[in-house]
Amino acid sequence: MINEIIEISREAGEVIREGFGKKLTLEYKTNISDFVTNIDKASEQKIIDFIKKKYPKHNILAEESGAENFNSDYTWVIDPLDGTVNFAHGLPIFSVSIAILRKKEIIAGAIYDVMNNIMFSSEKGSGSFQNGKRIYVSENSDLDKSLLVTGFPYNIKQNPDNAIEKFSRFVLNSRGVRRLGSAAIDLCYVANGTFDGFWEVNLHPWDMAAGMLLVKEAGGKITDFTNNKNSIFSKQLLATNGKVHDRMIQILNNN
Ligand code: IPD
Ligand code: CA
Ligand code: CA
Repeated sequence: MINEIIEISREAGEVIREGFGKKLTLEYKTNISDFVTNIDKASEQKIIDFIKKKYPKHNILAEESGAENFNSDYTWVIDPLDGTVNFAHGLPIFSVSIAILRKKEIIAGAIYDVMNNIMFSSEKGSGSFQNGKRIYVSENSDLDKSLLVTGFPYNIKQNPDNAIEKFSRFVLNSRGVRRLGSAAIDLCYVANGTFDGFWEVNLHPWDMAAGMLLVKEAGGKITDFTNNKNSIFSKQLLATNGKVHDRMIQILNNN
């Protein structure tokens, strides 16, 4: 199945690349920063058409068109364009993220970094890959020497979970904190060892599912902010190389 996820992620990525820099139609969701474009929708349609043709009985959980449940053991979790604000502003950092769950377990996922033409993929028990080459999380155990990444949710003006205070504590306790604007790509870069850790609140299943598998299969650790196991439905995500995890938990809890 992983080959099919890779194939359709790439095809959806071509739709996005074709639309990059062209005039877009925007529809607002919760506020002025939260919108969907005609290209998000075209990418999602391409992916859903593929699933309907090949696996018409599989469940779908897709960001723009919602959930379709056929009581199948398999669910496709789809973010057709992760990094919509970047895309709409001409910043070439965005991705397609697709995962498959069997019952509640993530068994395969791919994230396609569209403008860099990099395919990240993973299958449960088989490791994580970047353009076919095995990747691993970093070895660094010293938070002061780490490079971190985060993102801010669309309701950041309400400062959910004291997101701004957490951000400033990490800035003071690391080499730097980046904010790329695509949670899926943030997780790929934890999986390949570029970043030592990533945290964010209020993500959705489609932002995280494929990336969570990539990080785990690359040797990393995923929990919520109290060091408990989390799921794609959790509202807090901490993904690290494992070695800076406990220190990041301390900082998240202001210790
Ligand atoms: C967003 C991106 C961003 C994150 C937001 C997400 P979208 O997804 O992943 O990095 O900070 O919380 O909603 O809306 O571009 O698919
Ligand atoms: Ca997203
Ligand atoms: Ca999206």
